[in-house]
Amino acid sequence: MSAVTARRAVIKGTGSALPRTKVSNADLAQKVDTTDEWIVERTGIKFRHIAEDDETTSSLATEAARRALEASGMAAQDIDLIVLATATPDQTFPATATTVQDQLGCNGCVAFDVAAVCSGFLYALSVAESMIRAGSAQNAIVIGAETFSRILDWEDRTTCVLFGDGAGAIILSGEETDKGVLSTRLHADGEHNQLLYVDGGAGTTGTVGKLRMKGREVFRHAVVNLSSVLKEALDAAGEDMDNIDWVVPHQANARILDATAKKLKLAPEKVIKTVDQHANTSAASVPLALDTAVRDGRVKAGDLLVLEAMGGGFTWGASVIRY
Ligand code: UT7
Repeated sequence: MSAVTARRAVIKGTGSALPRTKVSNADLAQKVDTTDEWIVERTGIKFRHIAEDDETTSSLATEAARRALEASGMAAQDIDLIVLATATPDQTFPATATTVQDQLGCNGCVAFDVAAVCSGFLYALSVAESMIRAGSAQNAIVIGAETFSRILDWEDRTTCVLFGDGAGAIILSGEETDKGVLSTRLHADGEHNQLLYVDGGAGTTGTVGKLRMKGREVFRHAVVNLSSVLKEALDAAGEDMDNIDWVVPHQANARILDATAKKLKLAPEKVIKTVDQHANTSAASVPLALDTAVRDGRVKAGDLLVLEAMGGGFTWGASVIRY
């Protein structure tokens, strides 16, 4: 079903950035009690990028935003809103979005961070899209950026092999159109906030803390929540499963992507998978996967996309977009 014309937020460009250093499973196995076979079999991960000292969440975010701006043909000065999703801000405050704003040179516009961990990009997208639809913003940069390597416990092999660093960004503009963001559905359930968390914080321990996860339980919830929110967003957009061209999921584990596709009876070829190259980059993973698929020519103008993610909180969400 084609959507009726309305003021909507349309994706005008995508961009991404990765730290210089790419680390293979074999590299990791030199420092951590693990093997390439275990990681590939349980997760599908082969590589992750790890930030060097001079690479930060804001530097990766700025690079991704510059590439997205370039792809959109717009200048930083055209931007009136920056929403940045991260769980690894440069500092507790100010918001990393303001650092990115200063580096881009669009000082004066609205800029703030959103914290929803691995679902952060979906939450940020929803906020920016709502502000555009309401007419309080015209051109937005929505960014997911993380340096998770800095909150990993490198002694804990059950978590440290799973994550990587990176950033992805999109430019959203308000237009009278039948394209763009057609629907978004978000959820959170704080009952499960101790299954995936960081054991520190500015308001408790006064330290940053390290990531802790009960992987098996998270896995189980992920498949159920992702498939239900995808259907919910699709229904809200008035679209059928058969009309989907591409699902762009959060890249936590190839087995989660396969199990979710199977549950939804969705052809696995329609699922964009970058987890093998990037590992789990939390809020950066969906825009990183989207930019990869746009630049390699898979995602084309007019395609129907579903973006979806699930993470700590729990938080989860999905968005249906006519690209
Ligand atoms: O981004 C937010 C969402 N996050 C996720 O979605 C993560 C969801 N969870 C997962 O992806 C999976 O549960 C994991 C990849 C974390 C774990 O896979 P699993 O198949 O659930 O493995 P497990 O935790 O049940 O561990 C199986 C075995 C254990 O050994 P025993 O007790 O069976 O002897 C672990 O000690 O694998 C062992 N193990 C490892 N072995 C080698 C755990 N980590 C490693 C490792 N290398 N890195």
